[in-house]
Amino acid sequence: MSASQIGKKQYLVYLAQVHINFRRAELESLADICGLNDLDFSNYKEDSPFFIVELDNDTQAKEWIKRSILSRAIYEYWGEGKDLTELHQSIKFGTNIEHYKDLYKNDSFKFEFESYRGSNKKVNRISQIETFSYLAFKGKINMKSPDQVYTLIEVFEPVSDNEPSTTPSHMYFGRRVQISDRSSADVFDLKKRPYKGTTSFEAELSLISANIAQVKPGSIMYDPFAGTGSFLCAGGHYGALVIGSDIDGRMIRGKGAQHDISSNFKYYGDTDKFLDVMTMDFTHNSLRNSLGIDTILCDPPYGIRESIKVLGAKDPERFVGKENVEIDGQKAYLLRDYIPTKKPISLDLLLDSLLQFASERLPINGRLAFWMPTANDENIETLVPLHKNLELKYNCVQSFNKWSRRLLVYINRGKDYNGPTNSGLQRSTADFRERYFKNFN
Ligand SMILES: C[S@@+](CC[C@H](N)C(=O)[O-])C[C@H]1O[C@@H](n2cnc3c(N)ncnc32)[C@H](O)[C@@H]1O
Repeated sequence: MSASQIGKKQYLVYLAQVHINFRRAELESLADICGLNDLDFSNYKEDSPFFIVELDNDTQAKEWIKRSILSRAIYEYWGEGKDLTELHQSIKFGTNIEHYKDLYKNDSFKFEFESYRGSNKKVNRISQIETFSYLAFKGKINMKSPDQVYTLIEVFEPVSDNEPSTTPSHMYFGRRVQISDRSSADVFDLKKRPYKGTTSFEAELSLISANIAQVKPGSIMYDPFAGTGSFLCAGGHYGALVIGSDIDGRMIRGKGAQHDISSNFKYYGDTDKFLDVMTMDFTHNSLRNSLGIDTILCDPPYGIRESIKVLGAKDPERFVGKENVEIDGQKAYLLRDYIPTKKPISLDLLLDSLLQFASERLPINGRLAFWMPTANDENIETLVPLHKNLELKYNCVQSFNKWSRRLLVYINRGKDYNGPTNSGLQRSTADFRERYFKNFN
């Protein structure tokens, strides 16, 4: 029986039990990138790290999970049970087991063990492996680079918060098909990054954001509020050519050649993904209209560590005639060291212009993803900005004690979409910065 004859197969996705509000969005977005549009999520549970799903073949499984941050791995599902006896029964009576045994019988292999919420330190792994002898693998054991890795995942139910259990309450067994990209959260950890600052965004959620934004290899990703370039690094990691801008030239320039955004790209081996960064007020955008931007991913100013400003004068009357000021015969505003005046702007207005820009510049089905803060006592439904050409696809919340931030993800549906809009409205009555520093009292 060939793989195509057995039709769809069951796969086990072993998920990370963190950032639950982002997990399904990441799985769905990655599935969509690789054309898996009919995935059945009916077995998906937020309170479980195990998700059994049907796919056509290993290629689909690999493509889907290889860049996931919130999955650990995907396995060809062979069986499960509350103990080894029940697990073996489940494997032996599995619909595809004879086919699998035949297919992999001559392959070199090894066994590995994973555990969730506990560990079984006393168990003798060799004797445990011997209980699988009925699988009758004829291939060599190869611990370094086996053709197949068989994984036993043991699940523990802690006795209490302080007392772990040493006996597993459930087990899964399968053939490993693809390890996720979860280890990149560690590689991109800010602690190890050459150039970072107070506004740098944590690595794990930056990478997750890039996945939910569907940043694609060879596409162009733009971060209009690039700061120290956290999202640019995440986009470059997933193969996009990245461009950033920020109103604050100090962020862009960094602290010299070894400590600037481009040095981070060098450190990660992604130099070829870094197009450039420029000092620019987003609301006076100078990127030419014909530049195709595929994805916009950013973390607009919250006003906490950096004020929300755009070019312009708070009191324009005071500036009448100032455009004529000259220094050594040169218009002052044309000199390299000229520092233009800036005026404050509300987060609502800035986000309105971000949505408008995305609706004009993204291709149809292109995604805009950005982070927005809210105080937990505010009515969040009315706070989320909406634009008539953009479908709000995800609103993933990360909660802190008194405030939360949310990743808002929009899909550009074009002029005929005519969705709800609230641009031009003041959606927030409270100044987030002020409330943050008053501890939301
Ligand atoms: C929350 S930070 C983004 C941090 C960034 N994700 C990082 O990794 O460092 C917001 C950034 O927006 C910039 N900014 C504020 N107003 C701006 C504007 N009108 N146009 C462009 N950038 C602006 C700030 O200088 C700041 O660097």
